[in-house]
Amino acid sequence: MIAGVRALLAAAVAAAVSLPFAAFVVAQEFDFDAPPKPVLTGIDLGISVYRPELGNCQLCHGWSGLGGNAFEDNNGKQWDPGPSLVDSKMTAEEMIEIISCGKLGHSIMPQYLEDAWKPERPCWGKTAAEVPDTERAGLWGAPLYVDEIEAVVLWIQTAYQGKQFSLEHCLLYFGTPDAAGCNYLR
Ligand code: HEC
Repeated sequence: MIAGVRALLAAAVAAAVSLPFAAFVVAQEFDFDAPPKPVLTGIDLGISVYRPELGNCQLCHGWSGLGGNAFEDNNGKQWDPGPSLVDSKMTAEEMIEIISCGKLGHSIMPQYLEDAWKPERPCWGKTAAEVPDTERAGLWGAPLYVDEIEAVVLWIQTAYQGKQFSLEHCLLYFGTPDAAGCNYLR
């Protein structure tokens, strides 16, 4: 009986240990016959950054750019999730800076450029050493490349900033002509 339990335990441990390894092996597999993924550029790249899969800007700024809803974190602290990008008065350069660096001050607008705040890429002329950690939101998820940050600014300025969100841009965002989320614009 005890031997049986031991064998079971050993099997469970072996399975737990081999799991990360199995995941690693699967990740290494490459399908040489699969068609190459299209390389996104311009607006298409910008949309993919804005969507949940990459930068997840929509979580705080809303997929129609009008801003998100306030929410409470696990410690009961209230956060303003993000302003309307439709009302933003920023230039493209200012947007690139805030997306790369995050907002200076006590804000949850994350940093998206991995090298931001380093001596070779200061933010608003300052490096991390000059600004307390509590004043910077820091990297939040996977960082973005510079061209991805430029592309998401192109998307913001094309579809949201100073604009009435259009059916055309809504369908582009969802990537399908029958997106139910766009019905209110039809
Ligand atoms: C966790 C929430 C959150 C996420 C995710 C987020 N933001 Fe923000 N963002 C904010 C908040 C909050 C501010 C307001 C900062 C302030 O002024 O205090 C802001 C400000 C901005 C501004 C400045 C707007 C203005 O005119 O003041 C831009 C542009 C912006 N975000 C773009 C983005 C983009 C692009 C992404 C995705 C790559 C993104 N944000 C992801 C919360 C978020």
